[in-house]
Amino acid sequence: MKLSGNTILITGGATGIGLVMAQGFLERDNRVIICGRRQEKLDEACEGTPGLIAYRCDISDENDRRNLLENLKRDGHAINVLINNAAVLRAYDLSQPEKLDLVTAEHDLGINFFGPVTLTTLLLPLLMQQSDPVVLNISSPGGVVPIAKLPFYCASKAALDTYTDSLRHQLAGRVKVITLYPPTTDTPMMNGIELPMVSTQKFIKEAMRRLASNRTEIWMGDGRVLPWLVRIAPKLTFKLVNHTTKLWE
Ligand SMILES: NC(=O)c1ccc[n+]([C@@H]2O[C@H](COP(=O)([O-])OP(=O)(O)OC[C@H]3O[C@@H](n4cnc5c(N)ncnc54)[C@H](OP(=O)(O)O)[C@@H]3O)[C@@H](O)[C@H]2O)c1
Repeated sequence: MKLSGNTILITGGATGIGLVMAQGFLERDNRVIICGRRQEKLDEACEGTPGLIAYRCDISDENDRRNLLENLKRDGHAINVLINNAAVLRAYDLSQPEKLDLVTAEHDLGINFFGPVTLTTLLLPLLMQQSDPVVLNISSPGGVVPIAKLPFYCASKAALDTYTDSLRHQLAGRVKVITLYPPTTDTPMMNGIELPMVSTQKFIKEAMRRLASNRTEIWMGDGRVLPWLVRIAPKLTFKLVNHTTKLWE
């Protein structure tokens, strides 16, 4: 994708990966708009990053999504790049069905899967009126090899991946559709998790370099071996990931 001259909406852009992407694109001469649920985080991001534009929006809420679209149109933001980045990550113990909170699990899927799907559907007509339209979905290696303690997060990313493949196929030649698989990155989402992580600065350096290529599936960092490993030895890869990932134990 082209790295400058875009008008970009990044969901969940007030923190972590979304915020460094917002900053990286602003530095490269793009108009960047972010959204998120917490107004104080949006304000902090805008104070620390001159030029950033923010709207409060819960992407899992239909009214919020419609208000966002109206605000974008009212303020003349001709979005040509949508980055579906917002997500939540929660652990669930499937072995204790009496304690399993499926209402929250459904809400997680509402954010991680139906959020991007509905927002893309709502914004596609606007995107398709612009030149160089792009939908960039931020996935996770967990969508390809599940981390068993994160069943709904991983399922939501797997669903997002297959949806994104279909979207890419159906929009071929009209909208560029990209899936990006970040490495384990030091962001608020990973607070309290003891795993080797890359910094957000390292993430953005590699992400920008790779986004400049023409690829539509972008694996980053150590995760780049995963698509190969999983093809050659799927069961072993699952075991390895779940053995080495001591999350929430
Ligand atoms: N960090 C990693 O190691 C890693 C690895 C692979 C993939 N990823 C993916 O990278 C993306 C960014 O994650 P991150 O690590 O940067 O985590 P993060 O800092 O927690 O960012 C998530 C952002 O999403 C926003 N958000 C959550 N629910 C929302 C909703 N309903 N509506 C609007 N915004 C919402 C949050 O803000 P509010 O709470 O204020 O809404 C927050 O700003 C996610 O898709 C994640 O799955 C991360």
